[in-house]
Amino acid sequence: MKFVKSLAESNDLNSIPSLYTYPTNSNEPPASDPQNSIPTIDFSLLTSSDPYLRSQALQELDTACKDWGFFQVINHGVPETLMNMVLEKSREFFNLTDEEKKDFEERDVWDPIRYGTSFNSKKDEVFYWRDFLKIVVHPEFNCPNKPLGFREVLLEYSKRTRELARGLLSAISASLGLDPSYVEKALDIDSGLQIFVVNFYPPCPQPDLAMGLPPHSDHGLFTLLINNGVSGLQIKHKGKWLNVNSTLPNSFLVNTGDHLEIFSNGKYKSVEHRAVVNNSVTRMSVVLANGPSLDAYVSPAYSLLDEEMCPAAYVPMKYKDYLEMQQGNHLVGKTCLDRVRI
Ligand code: OGA
Ligand code: NI
Repeated sequence: MKFVKSLAESNDLNSIPSLYTYPTNSNEPPASDPQNSIPTIDFSLLTSSDPYLRSQALQELDTACKDWGFFQVINHGVPETLMNMVLEKSREFFNLTDEEKKDFEERDVWDPIRYGTSFNSKKDEVFYWRDFLKIVVHPEFNCPNKPLGFREVLLEYSKRTRELARGLLSAISASLGLDPSYVEKALDIDSGLQIFVVNFYPPCPQPDLAMGLPPHSDHGLFTLLINNGVSGLQIKHKGKWLNVNSTLPNSFLVNTGDHLEIFSNGKYKSVEHRAVVNNSVTRMSVVLANGPSLDAYVSPAYSLLDEEMCPAAYVPMKYKDYLEMQQGNHLVGKTCLDRVRI
């Protein structure tokens, strides 16, 4: 497998191989900077014992999910040192020699540890300027045995982010007007799938011709993202691409996924996003996808439906089947979701 990291490191690379030329839509206006910053959710208020503060925070969460599908979370309880350590260990993984990384190269979408390039290199006609490492960390914890100390850091990180994810899920449940434990029970979150993903985008000599990750929405309920301070993430908001440049220090970016859209019967739509590349520095993002149990059938929450006023807008599908469909195909916008939409 040819990884972009080694390609980018070859001395005389001043143009990209044609395999990486991403067809651009020349009619599309360039991404712009958001006029108002993206919503901020204070996690400590969502769990506050003061009912007024709590309901106000839930209201803000509801608006953020409805209008944006994207927000930053502060006061989330995950130590900053741990977040930095995860970024550092992830970087160390990519700095291992090709020989050392070989054992982890992906063979199958169900491998619990997958080191690969582009999105689905067996199917992609155009390759994306991105290498990745994907690790299933829940319900079973996995981790490469290199670099030294990765395992301890990742185990702690997955535990701490899981607490955050569960807190957010019960808040989302409440902001949908459901019992706070509704989502957790309906989708068997005790056995919920958590996938840790490191995206590695090396400098690209022709960044305007290549794409790091094409427009897509994420599977699962929501995704937590941190990065190494280099921008490149763009989200689609009210039909336009926006740069996500500055985020608050020590915050997580959260974006809603396809299964939250299904579960909320379209009230909280999954948000489309993409990653562009630059010609000077490596960008790294560390992502945690939080999903239902693989065996859960995901359908709109029964309590939100009404045969006449609010019929189900999505057909039920087992999360495992959805994941297989998404990971085994091309990554194009929200086309996977279209297959379960009524
Ligand atoms: C993803 C993703 C964006 C980024 O991994 O699904 O959208 O900024 N990543 O790397
Ligand atoms: Ni994504």
